[in-house]
Amino acid sequence: MKKIKIFDTTLRDGEQSPGATLTHREKMLIAKQLEKLGVDVIEAGFPIASEDDFKAVKEISETIKGPIIAGLSRAIDKDIIRAWEAVQNAKRPRIHTFMATSDIHIKEQFKKTRKEALEMSVAAVKLAKSYCSDVEFSPMDASRSDPKFLFQVLDEVIAAGATTLNIPDTVGYSQPSEFGQLISSIKKNVQGIEDVTISVHCHNDLGLAVSNSLEAVRNGATQVECTINGLGERAGNASLEEIVMNLETRKSFFDAETSITLKELFPTSQMVSNFTGISVQRNKAIVGENAFAHESGIHQHGLLANRETYEIMCPEMVGKKTAFVLGKHSGRHATKQVLEEMGFNLNEKQLQQVSKKIKDLADKQKTVLDEDIVAIAEDVTNQLKKEETRVVLKELRIETGNKITPTAHLSLLIDGKVVEAKGTGVGPVDAVSNALQSVAPTKVSLKEYNLKAITGGTDALADVVVKIANGGGKVHKAEAINEDVIMASANALIKGINKALTKEGEVGK
Ligand code: KIV
Ligand code: ZN
Repeated sequence: MKKIKIFDTTLRDGEQSPGATLTHREKMLIAKQLEKLGVDVIEAGFPIASEDDFKAVKEISETIKGPIIAGLSRAIDKDIIRAWEAVQNAKRPRIHTFMATSDIHIKEQFKKTRKEALEMSVAAVKLAKSYCSDVEFSPMDASRSDPKFLFQVLDEVIAAGATTLNIPDTVGYSQPSEFGQLISSIKKNVQGIEDVTISVHCHNDLGLAVSNSLEAVRNGATQVECTINGLGERAGNASLEEIVMNLETRKSFFDAETSITLKELFPTSQMVSNFTGISVQRNKAIVGENAFAHESGIHQHGLLANRETYEIMCPEMVGKKTAFVLGKHSGRHATKQVLEEMGFNLNEKQLQQVSKKIKDLADKQKTVLDEDIVAIAEDVTNQLKKEETRVVLKELRIETGNKITPTAHLSLLIDGKVVEAKGTGVGPVDAVSNALQSVAPTKVSLKEYNLKAITGGTDALADVVVKIANGGGKVHKAEAINEDVIMASANALIKGINKALTKEGEVGK
């Protein structure tokens, strides 16, 4: 089985994503995480680009001991010297230099001739080689280059000392069969190719970066350049997690493997997303929030019988978990399982009530969150355990306006007796809270109040979460959902007070 080297360029091409700038500290933390992930090469940056890039590449080179550390340079002397200064202290340094080989890049961008481009490429590799034994050369825009000229450049850079030839599909133009064919023709037509590593670097402009890279592997590439979450210029680079999991899941198809520690894939994705501020698309393969989430009742039922009915990969393998999302399509089997995992052991009647409420809520809002399910299950179980409900709301009336102090009038049943309460506050919710606290059977205090609108518009469902402390300082969390903000607040407060009084519920958070 051939070994495919994973060259991660999150810190270089990935950081070129619009809006993905990383601080020095973040780059260091990502580099450490990439080492833990087990990548073979980290392209730590483009040292000539800025003082900051230089420092980051240098520090990463001096700290990270496992992977090769590469610094990028154009085919220009000062770039190569700067790249070497940045990586020279690495345990295993690499200089990665590049020059365009397509006519459009050579003529329009570089204002050179093919002959000059060839000379620059060879000179760059020779200079890099005089510093570093490990030299990678990339013929930029290879997939749009004249193959004959491309072969000639590759022949000559191998003779000049390049040890890895990286074939980029710089603008993401290639189709998988074409790109595979290109790699296979390079294998046939370039002298000395058997002594160097063939690498590929695909961009995702047409959504084919992963497919093109995999087709290249099938045709002889043994290094793939990729990024976490597929970050990179424009539509990004090939996504590392997708490349790795294709090779892993279809090992015998590709007859290839990587050295990646799979369970670090998800944590790495999360770290990169948090640091760059670029969130991962929900339905992104492998690491997206929905990648192992099942909502359909048929699928959930199948999964409960045998995971392999609807999962081709084990989510735990990549550091994730199977999630049953309860919604309008969910069946009772899955609802029961999810509730049990949340600590609710409901009887048949309660289960039916919870399932109905979840479906009703799913009709009104896009996603039924875990908090919603807890609130519903608590609601249903509280209804049936009347002894735990010492405070019950009978009536609520609010006076508010721009000329009067907001005042709440509450009629409550406390331990079976009718109690009237009145409170004022800075707003109606504050007034309700003050009224409730004034008549609660023991001292309770509101520690936290959070309100979010579940749906849009002025008729949105309001979701209120409160934390209530009892006299002993124990904190209890409660949640309520209602079309009316004040009713949602009053219900959540009363629920929290009941928990505080009966000393049950979630403590401490
Ligand atoms: O996309 C590209 O061609 C590159 C090269 C520098 C390898 O990023
Ligand atoms: Zn690139």
